[in-house]
Amino acid sequence: MSNITENAPILQVTDLYVAYGPILALHGISLEVHKGELVSICGVNGAGKSTVLKAIAGVLKPRSGSIRFKGKDVTGWKPEQLHKHGMALVPEGREIFPSLTVEENLRLGAFGRYQARRFAEDLEDFFTLFPILKERYHQAGGLLSGGEQQMLAIARGLISHPDLLMMDEPSLGLSPNRVDQIFELIMELKSRGITILLVEQNAQRALEIADRAYLFSNGRVEYAGRPQDMAGKVDITSVYLGGQKGGDVE
Ligand SMILES: Nc1ncnc2c1ncn2[C@@H]1O[C@H](COP(=O)(O)OP(=O)(O)OP(=O)(O)O)[C@@H](O)[C@H]1O
Ligand SMILES: [Mg+2]
Repeated sequence: MSNITENAPILQVTDLYVAYGPILALHGISLEVHKGELVSICGVNGAGKSTVLKAIAGVLKPRSGSIRFKGKDVTGWKPEQLHKHGMALVPEGREIFPSLTVEENLRLGAFGRYQARRFAEDLEDFFTLFPILKERYHQAGGLLSGGEQQMLAIARGLISHPDLLMMDEPSLGLSPNRVDQIFELIMELKSRGITILLVEQNAQRALEIADRAYLFSNGRVEYAGRPQDMAGKVDITSVYLGGQKGGDVE
């Protein structure tokens, strides 16, 4: 395929600094993700989790540091270039297009990566993963429940066949049943070999399924390593509680 060596990470973030105007949000974040891994990022509100995903996806420009993806330095690339190159971000708060149908939302996810014929072929597989999207295929996305919109947002990320799927708090605001469904889905994606970088407020669950984990604190990496070791090093309960956010959207 390219100049990637067997053991090189698919994503390598090195000493990343990101600021909002004068306010520095990331103070030298380094992290890596290898092909086929599920890597979780945990941390309390404001720790910099969403900021790092947005910077990796090209939505925010880093002040300094570098991002390598599939063997290429992609620092400063635009979101659409990165999408085309195989990166998908399912943003916090889903951000589907409410007035567009489920089908149109999915087609937008495939845009630039894809031929129409393959889209049709893939739909059948998608409908197995996301039966609700088959039922609602011609309905406006905004008419779906919160959990269904989250499924649509994940499906939209997946349909581009990304080499790296990043998800920002996919279980946020969902009822316990829906949270279970989202985690089952993530497990299924992992078993299919999809490389995933996951930000989750539900640290306990995220650590159960992760191959490796990072704990962020105040824009820095406080811990990096095996999830089971992290559970012993930090008070997961406080991370969990600290990460809890506002009410149910369903
Ligand atoms: N648009 C913005 N303008 C200014 N500061 C921002 C902006 N977005 C985030 N920040 C700040 O950057 C820091 C990191 O925010 P970020 O959203 O990355 O945190 P997070 O870990 O995703 O938190 P949460 O768990 O609440 O989603 C915080 O101090 C936050 O207040
Ligand atoms: Mg966030």
